[in-house]
Amino acid sequence: MPYLDVIDRNGESRQLSAREGDNVMEVLRDAGLPIEAVCGGCCVCATCHVYIDPAWVPRLASPKRGEVALLEGCRHYESATSRLGCQISLRAEDDGLALRLAPEE
Ligand code: FES
Repeated sequence: MPYLDVIDRNGESRQLSAREGDNVMEVLRDAGLPIEAVCGGCCVCATCHVYIDPAWVPRLASPKRGEVALLEGCRHYESATSRLGCQISLRAEDDGLALRLAPEE
């Protein structure tokens, strides 16, 4: 079972357990973190914006064009580490994935 190593918007760290096939947004939302996920994971709202720990970026599948286009419109976009949580489906090898919540838009 993969777990996420998450830093919330207050700088507090927590570990969240997840199931393979869950996406990151679902895990954060279900843990009660302030992820709006207005579009429910359809890649149109960007309210699930997170920053992936740089060490983890190359281990994840690259974002698709639509995700990048949406992220580039975010005020707090960081080209090297920004991702939409709803577009990252967790695999067994993502155990320990480290990320930080982006500021609210
Ligand atoms: S939940 Fe809307 S883009 Fe991820």
